[in-house]
Amino acid sequence: MARWPWKRGRDARLLGRWYGEQAEEEWVHQRCRLAVACIDEGVNVADLGCGLQVLREHLHASCTYTGYDLGDMHPDNVILDLDEAFTLPQEHDVAVLLGVLEFLADPQAALARVVEAVDAVVLSFVCVHEASEADVKRREAVGAKHHWSEDDLAERLHGLGLTVTQRHLVWERPGERHVVLGLTSAD
Ligand SMILES: C[S@@+](CC[C@H](N)C(=O)[O-])C[C@H]1O[C@@H](n2cnc3c(N)ncnc32)[C@H](O)[C@@H]1O
Repeated sequence: MARWPWKRGRDARLLGRWYGEQAEEEWVHQRCRLAVACIDEGVNVADLGCGLQVLREHLHASCTYTGYDLGDMHPDNVILDLDEAFTLPQEHDVAVLLGVLEFLADPQAALARVVEAVDAVVLSFVCVHEASEADVKRREAVGAKHHWSEDDLAERLHGLGLTVTQRHLVWERPGERHVVLGLTSAD
């Protein structure tokens, strides 16, 4: 099966960035470690937009793991398009979305479906604060469609009935802040 950037007509350079070099970058692993800090032992985890399943390497051995993605860049990936009206094919306790929401057509719609299915969500987002036009252009060049501030993100999560229980900083630089949030569903 074709990998998603080809199928969806995106920039082929993302193939190398997301599925090659980027997986070797220390912050990708640090983001997973921070996500794991939000996840209880022994739970059943859905890694949505899992890519190469880097999270799996960091997860406690007592957890059950399933990775979902548009593409089969890892042979165990279950193919799922978060931009479609999806349902998860099995039950999970926690859904994780690391480096994914920025790239979806409608991240709120996807999250609303996720919230229906699980009690807890762990996500990352590269938020903007005082981002310059050049910052936004650079984000767009790597496929990001949403340029939310941390307040924008909090407002959207609140609107979905999600409460922030943990917040971790992956990195910060002028104009941008990369956060990992642990969230629980209100119901
Ligand atoms: C920046 S990579 C992050 C990969 C992984 N979560 C990690 O932390 O290493 C973004 C991932 O989101 C996936 N993705 C993007 N749009 C998607 C969609 N509509 N449905 C499912 N996965 C999607 C891509 O295929 C890619 O694997």
